[in-house]
Amino acid sequence: MKRAAIVLAAGMGTRMKSQLPKVMHKVAGRPILGHVIAAVREAGVERIVVVTAPSAEMVRAFAAAEGAESVIQHEQLGTGHAAAAAAPLLGGFDGTVIVAYGDMPLVTGATFAASFAAQEKSGMAVVAFHSENPAYGRVIVGADGMLSRIVEYKDADAVERAVKRCNAGIMAAEAGRFFGWAAKLDNRNAQKEFYLTDVPALARKDGVSCAVVEADETEMMGVNSRAELAGAEAQMQKRLREAALASGVGMTAPETVYLCHDTVLEADAQIGPYVVFGPGVTVKAGAEVKAFCHLEGAVVERDALIGPYARLRPGAHIEADAHIGNFVEVKNARVEKGAKANHLTYLGDARVGAGANIGAGTITCNYDGFFKYHTDIGAGAFIGSNSALVAPVTIADGAYIGAGSVIAKDNVEKDALAVVRGDRKDVAGWAAKFRAIKAAAKAKKKEGK
Ligand code: UD1
Ligand code: CA
Repeated sequence: MKRAAIVLAAGMGTRMKSQLPKVMHKVAGRPILGHVIAAVREAGVERIVVVTAPSAEMVRAFAAAEGAESVIQHEQLGTGHAAAAAAPLLGGFDGTVIVAYGDMPLVTGATFAASFAAQEKSGMAVVAFHSENPAYGRVIVGADGMLSRIVEYKDADAVERAVKRCNAGIMAAEAGRFFGWAAKLDNRNAQKEFYLTDVPALARKDGVSCAVVEADETEMMGVNSRAELAGAEAQMQKRLREAALASGVGMTAPETVYLCHDTVLEADAQIGPYVVFGPGVTVKAGAEVKAFCHLEGAVVERDALIGPYARLRPGAHIEADAHIGNFVEVKNARVEKGAKANHLTYLGDARVGAGANIGAGTITCNYDGFFKYHTDIGAGAFIGSNSALVAPVTIADGAYIGAGSVIAKDNVEKDALAVVRGDRKDVAGWAAKFRAIKAAAKAKKKEGK
């Protein structure tokens, strides 16, 4: 059976109190909608249609970037009305459609797959979970174990409200029939909305029964407020940390490590406490990231040592056995095998050759206020402490830079020494004389008072 998905993302998300559309808020570095799209895709859908609000150009651009189609729901008249907006694209789809809400970042591909499987067996399927949270719609199951109807909390009576089986917001049905039922919805309810949740009752009248797939509460959590977003982030972090540990990553204090949805940590990578991963980071086996580091868009090769207190920004590539120490920032720079920058350094738009040693306080001056320039440091070079390398500049293999030098314009030759410093002047006894004069002046001032 062919599979397609409709992801509802046109709601106002007013409870977020944000200019950003709700589904674009990030969990583990990825918009909530991105998590939902990835999960339905895992269940083998061949088309994904995202339902968006007219003003949500940003959501449509994101959907397109993720390989999904989108439609506009011109007025936000409810979830049923939103799903019906996909009819021009999927009305003629010869297969099963699954509807999902775009505000469920923790939903997994396995749950979508189970819903498709249940639909194939029974004709229709919805997902339910157990929750004490009163906000969710209630799933009322008949004596036959099949769905009787879904009632929104605001429309429910006391008996229905006592039911703890809640509607997750996932529904699978045969596409053509689904859009037929969606077109028949009315808005005679407490919120005067066209509820997606009324579809199963219409299906039942047409003799199509609906199976109830049970799922886990944390997975089904919808994000409606900032507090729920933070709660979803906590759950996602827990999941990512558990997966990393299970795959052989060492973590001293996993509860303090913040991972991104796409963080790649190989088995035997070691991560210290309070390390934060932004998007696009890979840490290979044997590498260690010590406490209090921040990494994004970076690759750390085998047995490299990072931190404590290091910052790797996009384009940082730290090769095997290299060391990046405390208060070192690396951006768009390759630090080749065994090179070391251990203290207080900025390496931007640069290459540091294998085995080179970058002294404390070295700065690559990569920006002149208009353009960025490259610094090339050769293999085995030694950069003395507190040197400024004014790009574009090349320090050839094996060269030495004397501490405190400002190296600009001309390249430094292979195995040469370059040192740029003012001449030193020593005045014997000067300090003792100076102190004597000042002490006498101070004593005189005191007497005068
Ligand atoms: C909905 C369900 C409820 C379920 C809960 C699970 C209905 C009527 N209620 O309630 O049974 O327990 O989700 O989280 O379906 N949307 C649109 N267009 C609209 C309205 C909503 O695209 O006109 C989208 C929203 O962007 C959101 C999703 O549909 O992604 C759900 O809407 P929301 O308002 O959050 O529904 P809930 O009140 O949470
Ligand atoms: Ca919701």
